[in-house]
Amino acid sequence: MTETNATSTEASSGDQRQDQDRETTQRDDHDRRTMVRERYGEIAGGEDEGEGEDRDEAAAETETENENEDDCCGPTCCDGDAPDTTPAPADADAQSLELGYEPDDLEDAPDGANLGLGCGNPVAISNLEPGETVLDLGSGGGFDCFLAAREVAPGGRVIGVDMTPAMLERARENAAETDPDLEDVDVDLEFRLGEIEHLPVADETVDVIISNCVVNLSPDKPQVLAEAFRTLRPGGRLSISDLVATGPLPAAVREDPDLVSACVGGAATVEEMAGWLEAAGFQDVSITVEGEWESEYDGEDRPIVSARIEARKPDETVDD
Ligand SMILES: C[S@@+](CC[C@H](N)C(=O)[O-])C[C@H]1O[C@@H](n2cnc3c(N)ncnc32)[C@H](O)[C@@H]1O
Repeated sequence: MTETNATSTEASSGDQRQDQDRETTQRDDHDRRTMVRERYGEIAGGEDEGEGEDRDEAAAETETENENEDDCCGPTCCDGDAPDTTPAPADADAQSLELGYEPDDLEDAPDGANLGLGCGNPVAISNLEPGETVLDLGSGGGFDCFLAAREVAPGGRVIGVDMTPAMLERARENAAETDPDLEDVDVDLEFRLGEIEHLPVADETVDVIISNCVVNLSPDKPQVLAEAFRTLRPGGRLSISDLVATGPLPAAVREDPDLVSACVGGAATVEEMAGWLEAAGFQDVSITVEGEWESEYDGEDRPIVSARIEARKPDETVDD
């Protein structure tokens, strides 16, 4: 074999290995999203949310909504004892009060919107103003979206995105219940089916991104943050609540499917999260620990905390 042939054979086997690695990662990511979707489908009170038709429906709806963008105007998920079914409303409300929501928040949101799945209060930290457009990543039953709608009235808009069809159905039913109230205060509220790694939202159309205990569930957090950056207007802000790790998590925790879908196994470290936000282009990155999170597994403490994660897209994007 000539030297040139040997080099090109080595290069092509390197390419093959890279292709195989990429395929393995894509398959792992897909399996993880399927597992998470099944879990939250059960919590939403739906049937099995397996990948098949539902996944296709999510992808198709994401594509259609992208094309039509111009047309459209107690126990929690987040601990090891997370329920597999809808938590009792009283438990969800008690947990939300502990996280800093006000009794009025619970009164104002439609029944069934609060599933007690959050780990913070992103609406409270996002300083929303009337007229702003808000995007909620992983909107669940819609609790934070309804509260955000109250803040951006009049003239504002709130979009919730979730990949679990049963969650979306629940949020849309809640929205239908509250529709006349929203019309009175002049706010657009809609829930879109889609993955936060591929947001069904046009470029630079959002003022504020909120999210509550969702980014940790994504197998590709840098991609989520890149998508958040894409959809924000220059000068727009990101104010999210999530669980993060103050130190590396053991592989046994990171790889445990129950702990991943309970919002713990996939928690990024504070340093990772800050690095990904900066790599996506965000400025003024700030990650503030709000409190330790119940995190005992196998009798050992794990360094999991709830945090508020804030950042801003620069006013002008500098072209190279
Ligand atoms: C822990 S719950 C939080 C729900 C809501 N933010 C709240 O505070 O009640 C996580 C939600 O995120 C959704 N989700 C998880 N991973 C997602 C992804 N990659 N893309 C879109 N939605 C996702 C789930 O379907 C679920 O509704």
